[in-house]
Amino acid sequence: MIEVRNVEKIHQTGETEVRALQGVSCNFPGQVFSFILGPSGSGKSTLLYLMGALDKPTSGEIFVQNRSLSTLNRTERDTYRREKVGFVFQNFNLLKNLNALENVLAPYLPLGVSTEQKKRAEELLKQVGLGQRITHRPSQLSGGEQQRVAIARALLKRPLLILADEPTGELDTQTGAEIFQCLRDVSDQYKTTVVIVTHDERYIRDTDFILRLRDGKIAE
Ligand SMILES: Nc1ncnc2c1ncn2[C@@H]1O[C@H](COP(=O)(O)OP(=O)(O)O)[C@@H](O)[C@H]1O
Ligand SMILES: [Mg+2]
Repeated sequence: MIEVRNVEKIHQTGETEVRALQGVSCNFPGQVFSFILGPSGSGKSTLLYLMGALDKPTSGEIFVQNRSLSTLNRTERDTYRREKVGFVFQNFNLLKNLNALENVLAPYLPLGVSTEQKKRAEELLKQVGLGQRITHRPSQLSGGEQQRVAIARALLKRPLLILADEPTGELDTQTGAEIFQCLRDVSDQYKTTVVIVTHDERYIRDTDFILRLRDGKIAE
């Protein structure tokens, strides 16, 4: 589903170059739970953001459903990010002045939200276990609940792909386990490919695909 072909990424800050990825190649299978593991600074987030077209590789290519992301023009990249990829971040990235339902709908609020979208957003919040919390603001929700809102927001667009960067990094063990279960449930139901950067190896199952990075290279 996602083919990473000989990808290099050099981050340039002033005079300094950081070779974050040094020729990484791998295939992430479709509709499978995948993990990117490795020590801090090994290039995990860099690779995830390249897969989400939030950034471009210095060399090499990434194919999603056989289409190279580097052949997309600006409009196509925007469409890919907006419609195909659901992002989930460590710090949840919720808007603090909006309630849970409005946060799920946030990407669509500027365009105007249809009754159908609103119904679907409510359904998704119920599905992630927040049916009783839809008018709560982030400050009135626990960390785990906030991350569930973020997952519902990612799902509203019916994404091909969910990319999660340390989604349980700020949560306790029990809540982290629940978030992984929630991601597994929705990926089963919606046949979504999920790629997760994590330190938490406890939640990995035998059937999951694992990529280990070390110093910008594949470790095994
Ligand atoms: N935008 C950036 N500008 C400069 N250096 C960066 C940038 N993003 C990441 N890096 C560097 O690239 C390397 C890999 O970073 P990252 O992909 O964030 O690793 P990880 O997610 O595995 O901790 C690190 O040395 C980091 O400091
Ligand atoms: Mg990271």
